[in-house]
Amino acid sequence: MVLMIGVEEAKENAAREACRVLGDFREVKVIGLGTGSTIKKFIDLCIDNIKRYLIASSSIDTTLYAKSRGLNTIDMYSVDSVDVYIDGADEVSNKLDLVKGRGGALLREKTLAYLSRYRLYIIDYTKFNGRDYLYLKPIPVEITPITLQYTMRAIKNTGLFEPVIRTSIGKDGPVITDDNNYILDLKPLRPIEDPLNTHKLLKLIHGVVETGIFPAVELVDTVVVGYPDKAVVYNRGVSIKNG
Ligand code: A5P
Repeated sequence: MVLMIGVEEAKENAAREACRVLGDFREVKVIGLGTGSTIKKFIDLCIDNIKRYLIASSSIDTTLYAKSRGLNTIDMYSVDSVDVYIDGADEVSNKLDLVKGRGGALLREKTLAYLSRYRLYIIDYTKFNGRDYLYLKPIPVEITPITLQYTMRAIKNTGLFEPVIRTSIGKDGPVITDDNNYILDLKPLRPIEDPLNTHKLLKLIHGVVETGIFPAVELVDTVVVGYPDKAVVYNRGVSIKNG
């Protein structure tokens, strides 16, 4: 078993740095928040700074947590634009392509990311894969329940993935997402060298609602990588900072 040293400290360092980066933006009214343990750390460590914003949340879990911390949440039907989106991720490549969806919130997370002017992700160093491609984690894909058999077969037939139905620990059977769908976890049979086109190929399959591939070129501006003793900021593309 590989022992991961200082992962909690690494997440905290990344969350603190993300809070500092957020402070550089001007005229922010609405921020989007992703889902997961790193985002909860971000909320805790940045609470004084984000109290002033409206929070568009990507899941029931984040909404409940944000409300418990006294933040002002708004539902996704009310949000047509987000100034800065902040989220965790499961795997990040050297090109800043991401895999997301361990928490099953990928559909709402991606929706908020598309609605956002700027997207900032926070990870600990174990998730930075050091490669130009994605390969570490299965790709979560949200699918419509009624198409399950067909969608699984069609994904298998691509020859690129081995799909597995994600099952719940709180009930027997599949995990049901906040939008009443199922999740398949796709084990890659080879490295994903072209995440954007792999995502597009999956989206063309009947029954696929969304994939957990967040291509850098479409959905990533900044990734903050936390280490036990520091945080490193990686930027991609044009910044709206101080705009
Ligand atoms: C939620 O569906 C995911 O996309 C999370 O954002 C991602 O799994 C990161 O979660 P942790 O911060 O708990 O590792």
